[in-house]
Amino acid sequence: RMTTPFTIAIDGPAGAGKGTLARRLADHYRLNLLDTGLTYRAVAYALLQLGLPLDNVSAAETAARQVDLAKLDRSVLSAHAVGEAASKVAVFPSVRRILVEKQRDFAKAPPGAVLDGRDIGTVVCPDADIKLYVTASAEVRAKRRLDEIESIGGSANFAEILADILRRDERDMGRADSPLKPAADAHLLDTSEMAIEAAFLAAEAIVDDVLAKR
Ligand code: DC
Repeated sequence: RMTTPFTIAIDGPAGAGKGTLARRLADHYRLNLLDTGLTYRAVAYALLQLGLPLDNVSAAETAARQVDLAKLDRSVLSAHAVGEAASKVAVFPSVRRILVEKQRDFAKAPPGAVLDGRDIGTVVCPDADIKLYVTASAEVRAKRRLDEIESIGGSANFAEILADILRRDERDMGRADSPLKPAADAHLLDTSEMAIEAAFLAAEAIVDDVLAKR
């Protein structure tokens, strides 16, 4: 048991703060880090670049096989439109199977990893040492996104952002294969009224508790 790589699985809807939390935990415990959303984004981006429809499953499978976890470029993949497209290609089981295999290989490498996404605790790493389900109300997530856009000098409409978030939640939670949902043994972390530091401290307490018993 001690020789198995330590795995922290973090799931939750878009904008709940799981990415920041995952990075903080990976830094703190010196674990590898994989934002699995980037793998779905890379597939979507490839199709967009080729001008192909997002429901071209065989092209999506080819793009998925070509995903190199060491070469995921956040600067092009973080665009909002790419996230939206990623949520659409993520409904195809064959695409998921290809990406999940790469994600599992990543998790196996010592000393272990923090993975964040939608199905880490339920499908990718069902035996993870720690499972966190990070959520926040749709309104809070929309407000955070609005603040983020405005902080870089942009402007946006709260109602439109909120509608966007609700649509994305519905797609990610409603799909047949690996829908977003908390694993039965996940610790729930609602960050609606919590700053990132408080969320990190709560997560750290959970991890330290498990480590002490290992
Ligand atoms: O976390 P993100 O916004 O970068 O993810 C983009 C989309 O990718 C998300 O809306 C659904 C999909 N996704 C998924 O289906 N499974 C994952 N483990 C991660 C992301």
